[in-house]
Amino acid sequence: TIPALIGMPTDLGASRRGCSMGPEALRVAGIHTVLQRLCGRGVDMGDIKGPKVAGEVYSNGYRHFDTAVAWFRTLSERVYETLSAGQCPVVLGGDHSIAIGSVSGVARYCRERDIPLTILWLDAHADFNTPATSPSGNLHGMPVALLTDPDSEMLRTMGPGNAAVAVDSFQLIGVRSIDRIEKQAVLTAGLEIYDMRRIDETGMRAVMDEVLDKVKARGGHLHVSFDIDFLDPLIAPGTGTQVKGGPDYREAQLCMEMIYDTGLFGSLDLVEINPALDIRNQTAEIAVEMTASLFGEQILARHGGSKR
Ligand code: ARG
Ligand code: MN
Ligand code: MN
Ligand code: MN
Repeated sequence: TIPALIGMPTDLGASRRGCSMGPEALRVAGIHTVLQRLCGRGVDMGDIKGPKVAGEVYSNGYRHFDTAVAWFRTLSERVYETLSAGQCPVVLGGDHSIAIGSVSGVARYCRERDIPLTILWLDAHADFNTPATSPSGNLHGMPVALLTDPDSEMLRTMGPGNAAVAVDSFQLIGVRSIDRIEKQAVLTAGLEIYDMRRIDETGMRAVMDEVLDKVKARGGHLHVSFDIDFLDPLIAPGTGTQVKGGPDYREAQLCMEMIYDTGLFGSLDLVEINPALDIRNQTAEIAVEMTASLFGEQILARHGGSKR
């Protein structure tokens, strides 16, 4: 498939502003060139346009609800169309709340075609808060909860086609920060989380073998939602909610390489890169290096191979 870049220059869901500059930082770091080299082709669909964040506007109990709906509705549609055209959406965030739009569009595509869907959520956080539980009120701490809620007001307001996704479609990896009430919610919902202790104890290899065995048994479409704070902040400092103790460079690369090997990877979010907090764009550059592995870059030629 041909990768299609879709920029989402908004930081509406974060409290530290700046990840709205993420799409351009990723382009400057060469994402387009790298994907063209690996896939033979690639298109840049440019940035989606939406309302700017201004002040603190609450509606329906969410901060920036209307702004969010406008951005996510457009993204969901764009992702759906991109997949329908046989291309692989690469969504350049933006904060992680935008996954409400992208995952929703992927889920619609899969639902209409009866394709099983798995979402690999690579993140230091569980992103399972709701307006009722969130200590911060930030939407980027809520996407997994809002996407899996059958009564989700956000999805409903985004319009027809945006329906809830089953909790067991999600596999969270790299988690090391969950808020107190969020932890209860995660356990109650039965969300599958491979936390950092798990990775420490068995290693990235064993964790990914286990996760990807489930993915392969289910088959279908694999969406990767890559929050850059998944990585250890020592290698990826340009992000607003750093949590120490994340995967190091090679652990993360192995994770990407193993995902590529399944041959099921078909869409991607790259989120939470904040150039205002970065050092000489190194965080965008590392994101591009991780993306290269997801699209098949290898040290030596090996087995595997994706849809491409
Ligand atoms: N759990 C915290 C909150 O809900 C942090 C969430 C961070 N999320 C992210 N996508 N970086 O505010
Ligand atoms: Mn996140
Ligand atoms: Mn995070
Ligand atoms: Mn480690």
